[in-house]
Amino acid sequence: MSQASESPNGRSNNRPSLLVTRRLPASVLERLRESYDVTVNPDDRSLGREGLLAALRSFDALSPTITDKLDAELLRTPGIRTRIIANFGAGYEHIDLAAAKSANLVVTNTPDALTDATAELTLLLILMASRRAGEGERLVRAGKWAGWAPTQLLGTDVKGKTLGLVGFGRIAKEVARRARAALGVRIAYFSRTRASADEEAALNAQCCSSLEALLAIADVVSLHCPGGEQTHHLINAQTLDRMKPTAILINTARGSVVDEDALATALSQRQIAAAGLDVYEREPSVPHALTELENVVLLPHLGSATLDARTAMGMQMADNLDAFFNGRAPPNRVA
Ligand code: 8YV
Repeated sequence: MSQASESPNGRSNNRPSLLVTRRLPASVLERLRESYDVTVNPDDRSLGREGLLAALRSFDALSPTITDKLDAELLRTPGIRTRIIANFGAGYEHIDLAAAKSANLVVTNTPDALTDATAELTLLLILMASRRAGEGERLVRAGKWAGWAPTQLLGTDVKGKTLGLVGFGRIAKEVARRARAALGVRIAYFSRTRASADEEAALNAQCCSSLEALLAIADVVSLHCPGGEQTHHLINAQTLDRMKPTAILINTARGSVVDEDALATALSQRQIAAAGLDVYEREPSVPHALTELENVVLLPHLGSATLDARTAMGMQMADNLDAFFNGRAPPNRVA
Protein backbone atom coordinates (compact mmCIF):
# COMPACT_ATOMS: atom_id res chain seq x y z
CA MET A 1 0.00 0.00 0.00
CA SER A 2 1.38 3.41 -0.89
CA GLN A 3 1.09 5.75 2.08
CA ALA A 4 1.70 9.42 2.83
CA SER A 5 2.61 8.84 6.40
CA GLU A 6 3.88 10.78 9.31
CA SER A 7 5.33 7.42 10.37
CA PRO A 8 6.19 5.35 7.32
CA ASN A 9 6.06 2.03 9.15
CA GLY A 10 2.74 2.83 10.80
CA ARG A 11 4.13 2.58 14.34
CA SER A 12 6.27 4.90 16.36
CA ASN A 13 6.86 6.36 19.82
CA ASN A 14 4.11 5.57 22.32
CA ARG A 15 1.17 6.80 20.35
CA PRO A 16 -1.18 4.26 18.79
CA SER A 17 -0.84 4.04 15.03
CA LEU A 18 -3.99 4.85 13.11
CA LEU A 19 -4.77 4.34 9.45
CA VAL A 20 -7.46 6.63 8.03
CA THR A 21 -8.57 5.00 4.78
CA ARG A 22 -9.97 8.12 3.06
CA ARG A 23 -9.23 11.84 3.17
CA LEU A 24 -11.18 13.51 6.00
CA PRO A 25 -11.85 17.19 6.83
CA ALA A 26 -8.70 19.00 7.95
CA SER A 27 -9.98 19.74 11.45
CA VAL A 28 -10.62 16.04 12.05
CA LEU A 29 -7.14 15.03 10.92
CA GLU A 30 -5.67 17.80 13.06
CA ARG A 31 -7.43 16.44 16.14
CA LEU A 32 -6.44 12.85 15.38
CA ARG A 33 -2.80 13.86 14.93
CA GLU A 34 -2.75 15.22 18.48
CA SER A 35 -3.13 11.72 19.92
CA TYR A 36 -2.26 9.23 17.19
CA ASP A 37 0.44 8.40 14.76
CA VAL A 38 -1.80 9.04 11.78
CA THR A 39 -1.42 7.69 8.26
CA VAL A 40 -3.90 8.89 5.66
CA ASN A 41 -4.38 6.92 2.46
CA PRO A 42 -3.11 9.54 -0.03
CA ASP A 43 -5.04 8.09 -2.97
CA ASP A 44 -8.43 8.85 -1.39
CA ARG A 45 -9.97 5.73 -2.89
CA SER A 46 -10.74 2.31 -1.54
CA LEU A 47 -7.64 0.47 -0.34
CA GLY A 48 -8.88 -2.83 -1.74
CA ARG A 49 -8.40 -6.23 -0.10
CA GLU A 50 -4.63 -6.25 -0.12
CA GLY A 51 -4.39 -2.74 1.25
CA LEU A 52 -6.89 -3.47 4.00
CA LEU A 53 -5.11 -6.67 4.95
CA ALA A 54 -1.78 -4.84 5.13
CA ALA A 55 -3.45 -2.16 7.25
CA LEU A 56 -4.97 -4.69 9.66
CA ARG A 57 -1.54 -6.24 10.09
CA SER A 58 0.33 -2.97 10.63
CA PHE A 59 -1.86 -0.48 12.52
CA ASP A 60 -3.29 -0.41 16.04
CA ALA A 61 -6.45 1.27 14.82
CA LEU A 62 -8.26 1.53 11.53
CA SER A 63 -10.78 4.20 10.50
CA PRO A 64 -12.58 2.87 7.44
CA THR A 65 -15.60 4.12 5.53
CA ILE A 66 -18.43 2.48 3.63
CA THR A 67 -16.03 1.95 0.70
CA ASP A 68 -13.88 -0.52 2.69
CA LYS A 69 -15.31 -4.02 2.78
CA LEU A 70 -14.06 -5.74 5.92
CA ASP A 71 -15.54 -9.21 5.49
CA ALA A 72 -15.17 -12.33 7.63
CA GLU A 73 -12.32 -13.79 5.59
CA LEU A 74 -10.28 -10.63 5.97
CA LEU A 75 -11.00 -10.20 9.67
CA ARG A 76 -10.21 -13.83 10.43
CA THR A 77 -6.76 -13.63 8.83
CA PRO A 78 -4.03 -14.53 11.32
CA GLY A 79 -1.57 -11.86 12.46
CA ILE A 80 -3.96 -8.92 12.85
CA ARG A 81 -2.45 -6.07 14.83
CA THR A 82 -5.52 -3.78 14.77
CA ARG A 83 -7.55 -3.63 17.99
CA ILE A 84 -10.25 -1.16 17.05
CA ILE A 85 -12.12 -0.40 13.85
CA ALA A 86 -13.55 3.08 14.32
CA ASN A 87 -15.89 3.39 11.38
CA PHE A 88 -16.41 6.81 9.83
CA GLY A 89 -20.16 6.49 9.24
CA ALA A 90 -23.36 5.33 10.86
CA GLY A 91 -24.00 2.24 8.73
CA TYR A 92 -21.60 -0.64 9.29
CA GLU A 93 -22.90 -3.50 7.17
CA HIS A 94 -19.57 -3.42 5.28
CA ILE A 95 -17.93 -4.76 8.46
CA ASP A 96 -18.58 -8.37 9.52
CA LEU A 97 -19.34 -7.83 13.21
CA ALA A 98 -19.31 -11.53 14.16
CA ALA A 99 -15.85 -11.98 12.63
CA ALA A 100 -14.65 -8.77 14.28
CA LYS A 101 -15.84 -10.03 17.66
CA SER A 102 -14.16 -13.40 17.25
CA ALA A 103 -10.92 -11.59 16.34
CA ASN A 104 -11.29 -9.50 19.55
CA LEU A 105 -11.72 -6.35 17.56
CA VAL A 106 -13.81 -3.48 18.89
CA VAL A 107 -16.01 -1.79 16.27
CA THR A 108 -17.59 1.67 16.64
CA ASN A 109 -19.71 3.91 14.40
CA THR A 110 -20.88 7.53 14.23
CA PRO A 111 -24.67 7.37 14.61
CA ASP A 112 -25.63 10.89 15.71
CA ALA A 113 -23.46 13.11 13.60
CA LEU A 114 -25.22 12.76 10.26
CA THR A 115 -28.88 12.79 11.29
CA ASP A 116 -29.58 16.41 10.32
CA ALA A 117 -27.71 16.28 7.02
CA THR A 118 -29.36 13.04 5.93
CA ALA A 119 -32.81 14.27 6.96
CA GLU A 120 -32.25 17.44 4.93
CA LEU A 121 -31.21 15.42 1.90
CA THR A 122 -34.33 13.28 2.25
CA LEU A 123 -36.50 16.39 2.08
CA LEU A 124 -34.52 17.57 -0.94
CA LEU A 125 -35.23 14.29 -2.75
CA ILE A 126 -38.92 14.36 -1.81
CA LEU A 127 -39.26 17.83 -3.29
CA MET A 128 -37.08 17.14 -6.33
CA ALA A 129 -39.00 14.00 -7.20
CA SER A 130 -42.46 15.45 -6.59
CA ARG A 131 -41.70 18.67 -8.51
CA ARG A 132 -39.71 17.00 -11.31
CA ALA A 133 -36.71 19.22 -10.60
CA GLY A 134 -34.19 16.90 -12.29
CA GLU A 135 -36.20 16.82 -15.48
CA GLY A 136 -36.53 20.59 -15.43
CA GLU A 137 -32.82 21.12 -14.89
CA ARG A 138 -31.93 18.75 -17.72
CA LEU A 139 -34.33 20.59 -20.02
CA VAL A 140 -32.72 23.96 -19.30
CA ARG A 141 -29.16 22.67 -19.56
CA ALA A 142 -29.92 20.94 -22.86
CA GLY A 143 -31.11 24.29 -24.28
CA LYS A 144 -34.49 22.67 -24.98
CA TRP A 145 -36.70 24.84 -22.80
CA ALA A 146 -39.16 26.59 -25.11
CA GLY A 147 -40.63 28.81 -22.38
CA TRP A 148 -43.35 28.69 -19.75
CA ALA A 149 -46.44 26.64 -20.50
CA PRO A 150 -49.47 25.95 -18.31
CA THR A 151 -49.14 22.19 -18.44
CA GLN A 152 -45.39 21.88 -18.60
CA LEU A 153 -43.66 19.50 -16.15
CA LEU A 154 -46.57 19.32 -13.76
CA GLY A 155 -45.67 17.69 -10.49
CA THR A 156 -47.65 17.04 -7.35
CA ASP A 157 -48.13 19.02 -4.14
CA VAL A 158 -46.76 17.33 -1.05
CA LYS A 159 -48.88 19.19 1.51
CA GLY A 160 -51.56 17.05 3.10
CA LYS A 161 -50.08 13.82 1.71
CA THR A 162 -48.94 10.84 3.76
CA LEU A 163 -45.22 10.30 4.21
CA GLY A 164 -44.60 6.62 4.96
CA LEU A 165 -41.34 5.93 6.74
CA VAL A 166 -39.81 2.45 6.59
CA GLY A 167 -37.73 2.20 9.75
CA PHE A 168 -38.21 4.70 12.56
CA GLY A 169 -34.79 5.44 13.98
CA ARG A 170 -33.02 8.76 14.48
CA ILE A 171 -33.01 9.84 10.84
CA ALA A 172 -36.60 8.79 10.13
CA LYS A 173 -37.86 10.70 13.18
CA GLU A 174 -35.93 13.80 12.14
CA VAL A 175 -37.35 13.51 8.62
CA ALA A 176 -40.83 13.21 10.17
CA ARG A 177 -40.33 16.34 12.31
CA ARG A 178 -39.01 18.42 9.44
CA ALA A 179 -41.45 17.16 6.83
CA ARG A 180 -44.39 17.90 9.12
CA ALA A 181 -43.14 21.42 9.84
CA ALA A 182 -41.92 22.35 6.37
CA LEU A 183 -44.15 20.37 4.05
CA GLY A 184 -47.31 19.78 6.06
CA VAL A 185 -47.40 16.02 5.57
CA ARG A 186 -49.04 13.32 7.70
CA ILE A 187 -46.71 10.71 9.13
CA ALA A 188 -47.08 6.93 9.04
CA TYR A 189 -44.36 4.39 9.71
CA PHE A 190 -43.48 0.72 9.80
CA SER A 191 -40.66 -0.47 12.01
CA ARG A 192 -39.55 -3.60 13.86
CA THR A 193 -39.65 -1.57 17.06
CA ARG A 194 -42.72 0.50 17.85
CA ALA A 195 -42.02 4.07 18.99
CA SER A 196 -43.24 5.14 22.42
CA ALA A 197 -46.75 6.54 22.74
CA ASP A 198 -45.23 9.95 23.49
CA GLU A 199 -43.10 9.92 20.36
CA GLU A 200 -46.04 8.84 18.23
CA ALA A 201 -48.18 11.58 19.75
CA ALA A 202 -45.51 14.25 19.25
CA LEU A 203 -45.30 13.43 15.55
CA ASN A 204 -48.95 12.42 15.20
CA ALA A 205 -47.45 9.30 13.64
CA GLN A 206 -49.56 6.32 12.62
CA CYS A 207 -47.85 2.99 13.24
CA CYS A 208 -48.60 0.42 10.51
CA SER A 209 -48.58 -3.26 11.40
CA SER A 210 -46.86 -4.33 8.18
CA LEU A 211 -44.79 -2.93 5.34
CA GLU A 212 -47.65 -3.73 2.97
CA ALA A 213 -50.10 -1.74 5.09
CA LEU A 214 -47.76 1.26 5.01
CA LEU A 215 -47.17 1.02 1.26
CA ALA A 216 -50.91 0.96 0.62
CA ILE A 217 -51.51 4.34 2.30
CA ALA A 218 -48.27 6.26 1.64
CA ASP A 219 -47.98 8.94 -1.03
CA VAL A 220 -44.25 9.18 -0.40
CA VAL A 221 -42.38 6.11 0.86
CA SER A 222 -39.01 6.93 2.41
CA LEU A 223 -36.55 4.19 3.40
CA HIS A 224 -34.65 4.56 6.68
CA CYS A 225 -33.79 0.98 7.64
CA PRO A 226 -30.25 -0.38 7.88
CA GLY A 227 -28.69 -2.36 5.02
CA GLY A 228 -27.68 -6.00 5.33
CA GLU A 229 -29.33 -9.35 4.83
CA GLN A 230 -32.50 -8.64 6.80
CA THR A 231 -33.54 -5.76 4.58
CA HIS A 232 -32.11 -7.05 1.29
CA HIS A 233 -34.57 -6.19 -1.53
CA LEU A 234 -37.33 -5.29 0.91
CA ILE A 235 -38.59 -3.16 -1.96
CA ASN A 236 -39.07 -5.58 -4.84
CA ALA A 237 -41.60 -6.31 -7.60
CA GLN A 238 -44.20 -7.52 -5.08
CA THR A 239 -43.85 -4.67 -2.62
CA LEU A 240 -43.66 -2.05 -5.40
CA ASP A 241 -46.95 -3.47 -6.59
CA ARG A 242 -48.50 -2.53 -3.23
CA MET A 243 -47.64 1.15 -3.70
CA LYS A 244 -50.07 3.69 -5.09
CA PRO A 245 -49.57 4.49 -8.81
CA THR A 246 -49.11 8.13 -7.75
CA ALA A 247 -46.52 7.29 -5.07
CA ILE A 248 -42.90 8.37 -4.86
CA LEU A 249 -40.13 6.17 -3.45
CA ILE A 250 -37.17 7.81 -1.68
CA ASN A 251 -34.01 5.92 -0.69
CA THR A 252 -31.31 7.57 1.42
CA ALA A 253 -30.65 4.36 3.41
CA ARG A 254 -28.82 1.63 1.52
CA GLY A 255 -28.98 0.54 -2.10
CA SER A 256 -29.36 -3.11 -1.13
CA VAL A 257 -32.83 -2.40 0.30
CA VAL A 258 -34.21 -1.89 -3.23
CA ASP A 259 -34.27 -4.33 -6.14
CA GLU A 260 -33.10 -1.82 -8.74
CA ASP A 261 -34.29 -3.85 -11.76
CA ALA A 262 -37.77 -4.13 -10.28
CA LEU A 263 -37.77 -0.40 -9.48
CA ALA A 264 -36.70 0.52 -13.03
CA THR A 265 -39.54 -1.61 -14.39
CA ALA A 266 -42.08 -0.07 -12.00
CA LEU A 267 -40.94 3.45 -12.94
CA SER A 268 -40.87 2.86 -16.68
CA GLN A 269 -44.32 1.24 -16.61
CA ARG A 270 -45.62 4.02 -14.33
CA GLN A 271 -46.63 1.51 -11.67
CA ILE A 272 -45.33 4.23 -9.34
CA ALA A 273 -44.89 7.89 -10.24
CA ALA A 274 -41.30 8.66 -9.39
CA ALA A 275 -38.30 7.93 -7.21
CA GLY A 276 -35.45 9.81 -5.57
CA LEU A 277 -32.32 7.78 -4.89
CA ASP A 278 -29.11 8.66 -3.07
CA VAL A 279 -27.76 5.12 -2.67
CA TYR A 280 -27.28 2.13 -4.98
CA GLU A 281 -26.69 -1.56 -4.64
CA ARG A 282 -23.31 -1.61 -6.40
CA GLU A 283 -21.95 1.91 -5.87
CA PRO A 284 -20.61 3.72 -7.80
CA SER A 285 -22.36 1.79 -10.54
CA VAL A 286 -25.90 2.94 -11.31
CA PRO A 287 -27.91 0.70 -13.65
CA HIS A 288 -28.53 2.06 -17.14
CA ALA A 289 -32.17 1.03 -16.67
CA LEU A 290 -32.40 3.84 -14.09
CA THR A 291 -30.18 6.50 -15.69
CA GLU A 292 -32.24 6.41 -18.88
CA LEU A 293 -35.47 7.23 -17.02
CA GLU A 294 -36.77 10.77 -16.54
CA ASN A 295 -38.92 10.06 -13.47
CA VAL A 296 -36.08 9.25 -11.09
CA VAL A 297 -33.75 11.68 -9.32
CA LEU A 298 -30.26 10.18 -8.94
CA LEU A 299 -27.79 11.63 -6.44
CA PRO A 300 -24.29 10.27 -5.72
CA HIS A 301 -24.60 9.19 -2.04
CA LEU A 302 -24.69 12.73 -0.66
CA GLY A 303 -26.65 11.95 2.53
CA SER A 304 -24.02 13.17 4.97
CA ALA A 305 -22.04 15.28 2.50
CA THR A 306 -21.87 18.58 4.37
CA LEU A 307 -18.72 19.90 5.99
CA ASP A 308 -20.65 20.16 9.27
CA ALA A 309 -21.76 16.53 9.21
CA ARG A 310 -18.48 15.07 7.98
CA THR A 311 -16.62 17.06 10.65
CA ALA A 312 -19.03 15.91 13.36
CA MET A 313 -18.67 12.32 12.14
CA GLY A 314 -14.90 12.60 12.38
CA MET A 315 -15.10 14.07 15.87
CA GLN A 316 -17.45 11.30 17.01
CA MET A 317 -15.04 8.77 15.54
CA ALA A 318 -12.17 10.43 17.42
CA ASP A 319 -14.21 10.29 20.66
CA ASN A 320 -14.57 6.55 20.18
CA LEU A 321 -10.85 6.10 19.56
CA ASP A 322 -9.93 8.28 22.55
CA ALA A 323 -12.20 6.34 24.86
CA PHE A 324 -10.82 3.02 23.68
CA PHE A 325 -7.16 3.97 24.00
CA ASN A 326 -7.78 5.58 27.40
CA GLY A 327 -9.36 2.43 28.78
CA ARG A 328 -12.94 3.70 28.71
CA ALA A 329 -15.94 2.20 26.93
CA PRO A 330 -16.26 3.77 23.46
CA PRO A 331 -19.61 5.59 23.36
CA ASN A 332 -20.67 4.13 20.04
CA ARG A 333 -19.52 0.56 20.25
CA VAL A 334 -21.37 -1.84 17.93
CA ALA A 335 -19.12 -4.89 18.48
C1 8YV B 1 -21.55 8.12 4.97
C2 8YV B 1 -23.70 6.80 5.32
O1 8YV B 1 -21.10 9.15 4.22
O2 8YV B 1 -22.87 6.96 7.54
C3 8YV B 1 -23.52 6.34 6.74
O3 8YV B 1 -24.08 5.27 7.05
O4 8YV B 1 -24.44 6.27 4.61
C4 8YV B 1 -23.00 7.94 4.67
O5 8YV B 1 -23.75 9.10 4.81
C5 8YV B 1 -20.73 6.89 4.72
O6 8YV B 1 -21.27 5.74 5.27
C6 8YV B 1 -19.35 7.08 5.26
O7 8YV B 1 -18.70 5.86 5.54
